[in-house]
Amino acid sequence: MPLQQAAPILGRLVVVGLGLIGGSFAKGLRGKGLFREVIGVDLDPESRRLAVELGVVDRCETELAAACQGADVIQLAVPILAMEKLLAQLAGLELGNAVLTDVGSAKGNVVRAAQQSFGGMPARFVPGHPIAGSEQSGVEAAKSNLFQRHKVILTPLASTDADALALVDRLWRELGADVEHMEVGHHDAVLAATSHLPHLLAFTLVDSLAKRNENLEIFRYAAGGFRDFTRIAGSDPVMWHDIFLANREAVLRTLDDFRGDLDALRAAVDAGDGHQLLGVFTRARVAREHFSKILARRAYVDAMNSNNDLIFLANPGGQLSGRIRVPGDKSISHRSIMLGSLAEGTTEVEGFLEGEDALATLQAFRDMGVVIEGPHHGRVTIHGVGLHGLKPPPGPLYLGNSGTSMRLLSGLLAAQPFDTVLTGDASLSKRPMNRVAKPLRAMGAVIETGPEGRPPLTIRGGQRLTGMHYEMPMASAQVKSCLLLAGLYAGGETAVTEPAPTRDHTERMLRGFGYPVSVEGATARVESGHKLSATHIEVPADISSAAFFLVAASIAEGSELVLEHVGINPTRIGVIEILRLMGGDISLENQREVGGEPVADIRVRSARLKGIDIPESLVPLAIDEFPVLFVAAACAEGRTVLRGAEELRVKESDRIQVMADGLQALGVKAEPTPDGIIIEGGPIGGGEVHSHGDHRIAMSFSVASLRASAPIRIHDCANVATSFPNFLGLAAQAGIRVNEEGKS
Ligand code: S3P
Repeated sequence: MPLQQAAPILGRLVVVGLGLIGGSFAKGLRGKGLFREVIGVDLDPESRRLAVELGVVDRCETELAAACQGADVIQLAVPILAMEKLLAQLAGLELGNAVLTDVGSAKGNVVRAAQQSFGGMPARFVPGHPIAGSEQSGVEAAKSNLFQRHKVILTPLASTDADALALVDRLWRELGADVEHMEVGHHDAVLAATSHLPHLLAFTLVDSLAKRNENLEIFRYAAGGFRDFTRIAGSDPVMWHDIFLANREAVLRTLDDFRGDLDALRAAVDAGDGHQLLGVFTRARVAREHFSKILARRAYVDAMNSNNDLIFLANPGGQLSGRIRVPGDKSISHRSIMLGSLAEGTTEVEGFLEGEDALATLQAFRDMGVVIEGPHHGRVTIHGVGLHGLKPPPGPLYLGNSGTSMRLLSGLLAAQPFDTVLTGDASLSKRPMNRVAKPLRAMGAVIETGPEGRPPLTIRGGQRLTGMHYEMPMASAQVKSCLLLAGLYAGGETAVTEPAPTRDHTERMLRGFGYPVSVEGATARVESGHKLSATHIEVPADISSAAFFLVAASIAEGSELVLEHVGINPTRIGVIEILRLMGGDISLENQREVGGEPVADIRVRSARLKGIDIPESLVPLAIDEFPVLFVAAACAEGRTVLRGAEELRVKESDRIQVMADGLQALGVKAEPTPDGIIIEGGPIGGGEVHSHGDHRIAMSFSVASLRASAPIRIHDCANVATSFPNFLGLAAQAGIRVNEEGKS
């Protein structure tokens, strides 16, 4: 809560060092009226004069002792190498209850200097570092809003007084900063890597080129790349000289690591090792893109960890028309990366889903040393490393929201010679993993899970797996695929029998890569000892994404829409069959087979839907489409009953409960049961619903708006990007009136 300007709650603020940072801190807090008086101290008379003239401080003192007497807060904003002397002076003064803090760019040296001067770190000293600056310097450049939306890192020690820390934290927040707390050593290492090393490289590159070309003639040929890379070589040399001396150890460590990597790159150039170069460059490019997303606050890691609530506002009414192509199939995209990586040769993928789930799989394989180019407009080139060519990843594999990545990967990682740790976001961290861990252990894998069989998974490498015949207790394509992938490495034969048909993309794609798979009835079998050969994969549009539009065009009167090039694998078309049973008008046109998967253009016209008892045999064939089918049921005449779908409770959210809550909030009669739901068709109102970070729930309620009487506000929609990156764009194109709130 902002403090009130009218009533200063603190007495005296002293800012020692009236440069850009100290001046901006003083000016900002003076403007907030938090302190009765703001006093500046600086050795330079001109800075003192300007500080008063420009309203940065109320007045200045020349004597440190006089300024600090009775101070509540003393901010040390002198150059970092002057800090030692200043701290020694302060240690000789009577500071009473004053809180000390500083703005030095390295923290270890400040803490050591304070410990030396004071004979131990004073409890009321809170070390800090605002990550803000500008090309200008001096008190005349001071701005009250310099820290707004900039990070300020505080590095308290265990002995730091909690009230002092809270006060410093609050002062920075008052200035609009994002405050974080960090351990001193960690701060210095992070800054050495992300700030100090780049400055060192920029300075040295410019100097190195300049001194070999004394007339500086070569710079005439330097284009944007050189300018961008070396912009920071224009920074204040004295300040940077101070910083490198102050943060010596951390800078040396990061510089040594970097030299190692640079030497490896030199060796690759020397040896003409283009593969190594491509590996470094593709990984760097992705990391850079991720970094840009973080800066723009778009990274899913960010979205999941912050309370940024992306709200969809869906306006009532609308009609669908035209032809659209929804993004590539998620299941097939995951598998294309996995099998392409394990194949021998180069696999080209087209139509790849550039959603966060499939990208998590792609990144995991990059982390295991596979060179993958793209994705670029759905094209991915995978330089396969063969079944035994994966390398240990540098750290845990973060799989975001993607259950498919975690479950399928666990099968093939269980058979690798190295250890791996698999982690995920808040939703994935709640999902059951024993369904894969238990049968894998029976094959000889060593896997630890978190409590109650949840992620993270720690997989011990170097085990010899043995094939087995597993009767799956639930109909799960992920479990089946996980075991088949483990079976590529296990001694003998691995067979999986499913209680009901589930998607068979793994079996089809293994064959596409030339790996023999036998399927007899409900049992799929593989044997180790064969190899995967690179191939070309064309990913069809995802029927699970098309499903939103199948329901949308069915329920919105006067609609006719064609969905192009949709995968209609028989193990995936439950949604079409269920909608047809409800009276939906859906026809398949231009049916063909592409790369081992059947596809078609799907024409859907609006229809009067009626409630049905959904045949249990269709449940696994429409497992991801139920959220939107519940919306169809709400628009149908009469009652729809779903049974035998308890699996829905362990998807990205508990889809039975979350949909029932949302539908009820919109005035629909929806009664959850342990393994399904009963929905009475009827009018749909407007209101607030929560997707609980589940992409399919967010999109389903967007579709519901077509028949709603008032707007629907849908909370927590960031994860739509996991499976359907351009949902809002395509929805608008087809005629659904849904937007990100605040944007139109
Ligand atoms: C998937 C299988 C299904 C499905 C998921 C993708 C796959 O999960 O819900 O979205 O790609 O194998 P289950 O195997 O848990 O049913």
